[in-house]
Amino acid sequence: MRMRQILLSSTTAIALFSCSPANETANTKNDFPEEVNKLLNEMTIEEKVGQMAILNLTVLTKFDSAKGKMVLDKNLLEEILVKRKVGNILNTYSSALDQEEWRSIVTEIQNYAAKTPHKIPVLYGIDAIHGATYHKEAVLFPQNIALAASRNPELSRLGAKATAADVRAAGIRWNYAPVLDVARQPLWARFGETYGEDPKLVADMGCAAIKGYEEDGLDKKTGVASCMKHYLGYSAPATGKDRTPSIIPETQLREIFLPPFEAAVKAGSSTIMINSGEINGVPVHSSKFLLTDVLRGELGFKGVAVTDWLDIKRLHGRHRIAKDEREAVKIGIMAGIDMSMVPFKTDFLDYLIDLVNKGEVPLERIDEAVGRILTLKHKLGLFKNAYPEKDAIAQFNNPKNKEIALDAARQAMTLLKNNGGILPLKKGTKILLAGPAADKVSYLNGCWSFTWQGNEEDKYPSYYTTIFEELKNVAGAENVAIETSNYLKKSNADVIVLCLGEDAYAETPGSIRQLDLDSTQQELVKSAYATGKPVIIVLTEGRPRLIKNIEPLAKGILMAYWPGSMGGKAISETLFGLNNPSGKLPFTYPKYSGNILTYDCKYSDVEEDLGMGDKETGYDVQWPFGFGLSYTTYEYSALNCNTVLKGDASLMVSVTVKNTGTVDGTEIVELYSRDHFASITPSVKRLRAFQRVVLKAGESKTISFSINAKDLSFINAQYKRVTEDGKFDVMIGNLKKEFSYFEK
Ligand code: BGC
Repeated sequence: MRMRQILLSSTTAIALFSCSPANETANTKNDFPEEVNKLLNEMTIEEKVGQMAILNLTVLTKFDSAKGKMVLDKNLLEEILVKRKVGNILNTYSSALDQEEWRSIVTEIQNYAAKTPHKIPVLYGIDAIHGATYHKEAVLFPQNIALAASRNPELSRLGAKATAADVRAAGIRWNYAPVLDVARQPLWARFGETYGEDPKLVADMGCAAIKGYEEDGLDKKTGVASCMKHYLGYSAPATGKDRTPSIIPETQLREIFLPPFEAAVKAGSSTIMINSGEINGVPVHSSKFLLTDVLRGELGFKGVAVTDWLDIKRLHGRHRIAKDEREAVKIGIMAGIDMSMVPFKTDFLDYLIDLVNKGEVPLERIDEAVGRILTLKHKLGLFKNAYPEKDAIAQFNNPKNKEIALDAARQAMTLLKNNGGILPLKKGTKILLAGPAADKVSYLNGCWSFTWQGNEEDKYPSYYTTIFEELKNVAGAENVAIETSNYLKKSNADVIVLCLGEDAYAETPGSIRQLDLDSTQQELVKSAYATGKPVIIVLTEGRPRLIKNIEPLAKGILMAYWPGSMGGKAISETLFGLNNPSGKLPFTYPKYSGNILTYDCKYSDVEEDLGMGDKETGYDVQWPFGFGLSYTTYEYSALNCNTVLKGDASLMVSVTVKNTGTVDGTEIVELYSRDHFASITPSVKRLRAFQRVVLKAGESKTISFSINAKDLSFINAQYKRVTEDGKFDVMIGNLKKEFSYFEK
């Protein structure tokens, strides 16, 4: 079998996913701007090492009992910023702050930074992962998992752009987003922060977000530096618990987890955050292979690599590969870390200065890291004006943000079941609403929403609405009753709508031991069913909780994910047909806890033939990746493509889609391919392209795709990206066409 090799090297970085560069950062000292090289020549080791640390805002604050809150403390500002010369600060000291408070905090911090010998401004970072998280009154957008259901990268770009403007209005210029982890483990508490289980979908949605953050220019008052995270393989811990070990063969690491980062580097993301966990026994923060050889050498990344929370210390205390914290610093920095999210103490500075003074960490490594950090500060315009831009405050909470959030929530809605056409509900339908998510905004917004966990209902702005409130608007208040107990008795309603799922959680506090929806909610469904009224379930959840036992009891099921600030409205509109759902699952919704598979599983996963006549379907799931119903129906026909693809040519694929129902709709057309035979067992299918097609009732459109050999490639046993000669299928809807690929 002949092979076409696409080598992974810095000069031929692969372009599996198309993204255009938003900015470029310098790599070697010679590439740094002149101002940065000048600074590097003049700075002391103490100043340099200070730039390599980022501390939490709480290290600068004290509780003020008169004011009843945390306030910046002059002595701490002096000690941390001026004496210890710490160059970067992150996070908030409590929950969300208003714009004035943010601006005064950033201003005061920059005032102290200006007292340092070279007046190097502070870089401030925050986790505005689905909108300006820690900013009072901010409009929050759907979580990434919901956005991914829309298959609409433009929504991702628009949300990111709005977030950038909001965050920068407060004087903050660094956002720890987007999450580019590929969701392969549904137990994982950060599943909802991802764009789902497919690397191409993650790459496309993530690159669009990077564009949104950075495309206006980092020195403009509407730009922030993005931070692709968490490099690499964070999202597949074996037990599902956050920050626990994963075993990932290098073929899979390169096939599934690396491509979104490759695409994001090409898209020009300025910074990268590292995975707190270990892969194959190696904590990623200690992996020179991943942090330097692959990230810099192969991917050609030139920006800043920051650790995650406490992760250098954890090389000693948690991962136990360093005998003490000093050694941990040496390992992390020598592996390729530029900045340590320490985030509470200054001992990192002492260890690193000592390591440099004793020749255990070469000055060149320090200059490389500091050069990258100063270059970023330079690009962000901090040396010109480190203060919150005077006129930027007016850009906070642009009225358009609510429209973007609503549009995104509408497009995310994914209809999973609609027996007998129970949905959409007719005008005048009497509804009994129940379930923990019925009247709570935290269930709609999820993690990183005004607080880290997002589960403090009273921290949300008063304009945020619940499903109950919005349903009354759409259905008429007289038609909606709510039941707050967990047991439903006989009811006069025409239907029972149960709002189930998960309250907000983030990171380790969101770790679970089993994937099943909790028994209390399952009991609620059973009691609703026992009333004899039709039951509709609305799911608001960050990950797919198993519902095998209660699914048959519902006539309709609408998946809303964590749809954000406008989620209640989008759900209510969808239930009544004011929005025709078009979302497609960005993950496989499992049915059994013992059968967790992704859609791109192997042939032997799908069919188990033990040669004794017993065949079993392995991909026996609740709903497959890409599943989503509509209030109309679509028919696919006339799938056409060339029969032969040669060398670098493109395969042109066309298909006709018709809206065969009676209402207008949007169909997401997905193109999959499969390799008939390959040197590494091929997947049963892989998503290669998708398009949203708007179709009026009765309308049909012919759409086309173009794919090439790179789109069909995979990582072989030698860790090389190859496309092997042979037969392939291209599949759209229920149609399939065969073609052959020849390198020559
Ligand atoms: C999370 C990161 C986040 C960082 C800073 C960590 O605990 O893993 O995603 O960016 O905190 O808040």
